Amino acid sequence: MNSITTRVWIAGASGRLGSALSHRFGGNTAYKLVTSDRDVAVEDVSVVGRFADINHPDVIINCAGLTDVQACEENPEEAYKINAIGARNLATAARRIDAKFIQISTDDVFGGDEDKAFCEFDDPHPTTMYGKSKYAGEKLVRELTDKHVIVRSSWLYGVGSYDFVDRVLDTAAKEGAVHLPEDEISSPTSAEALAGFIDCLMHSREYGLFHASCDGSCSRAEYAREILRLAGKENVPVTSASENTALRPRFTLLDNMMLRITGLYQMPDWHDALSEYMSHRQTGVNK
Ligand SMILES: NC(=O)c1ccc[n+]([C@@H]2O[C@H](COP(=O)([O-])OP(=O)(O)OC[C@H]3O[C@@H](n4cnc5c(N)ncnc54)[C@H](OP(=O)(O)O)[C@@H]3O)[C@@H](O)[C@H]2O)c1
Repeated sequence: MNSITTRVWIAGASGRLGSALSHRFGGNTAYKLVTSDRDVAVEDVSVVGRFADINHPDVIINCAGLTDVQACEENPEEAYKINAIGARNLATAARRIDAKFIQISTDDVFGGDEDKAFCEFDDPHPTTMYGKSKYAGEKLVRELTDKHVIVRSSWLYGVGSYDFVDRVLDTAAKEGAVHLPEDEISSPTSAEALAGFIDCLMHSREYGLFHASCDGSCSRAEYAREILRLAGKENVPVTSASENTALRPRFTLLDNMMLRITGLYQMPDWHDALSEYMSHRQTGVNK
């Protein structure tokens, strides 16, 4: 093996972000990839430790998570097990083998009761079980390993898991209309764009917390209108509907202040990233 090859373990490799990272790193000979999903259950400390010992990665990226907000609400213990204890187990293994640890977190660590973008220096105040369990994961990572980067992002879409783009297009096809809130605000973020930033972190000396969402903001309804426009279905009406606010904080826009301060990476505008993704979907590239 080439001595400068970086060994990377992606946990949760079949999800939206995991797929984008696997695609990006898979074709790069500078990286040797090992991937896992539920076959290496992150909540099982022995399984995680064994996998780390066998593969000895230089970098561990934790994309695994219980991301279904309803499931988290219905089963808090499962949410904490996967989103908090899973992060703890991976961080502990990373420290033991001296690997860099990259933990992916969410805008849902903010409660969304103020109309202001949240930067890395704002105190989280999660209101949902998903947000609470992800924030608990962040705290454990900070306590357990120094060589960590926590990356918070928002409204991720991409190949891998069923995403918001699939949901909007399927609903439009089945029902001829889409109902979504006009007052739920954040930034749609392409898993591919986020993978670009994570690639940049691989050899960077920057550690700590970074917000990394696509530039700009919109409501769920505006987001759906843009998806439909790019799919050539602008005639499908998107009407205002309220979602369960216990499950969805209203305003969770992230300000990527640390990216600006460090000059490390520029996330694209959400319209541009979505347009690129939609043209890939239509041509079948990356599917
Ligand atoms: N989706 C968003 O809008 C969003 C926004 C901001 C941040 N994030 C965070 O970004 C990360 C990646 O998100 P994503 O959208 O790519 O998630 P995703 O598509 O739901 O993928 C999560 C992956 O983790 C796997 N997984 C679930 N439970 C596991 C377990 N116990 N052990 C090992 N693997 C397990 C899943 O497998 P199964 O498919 O078999 O369950 C799936 O492959 C997550 O940490 C999420 O919290 C997501």
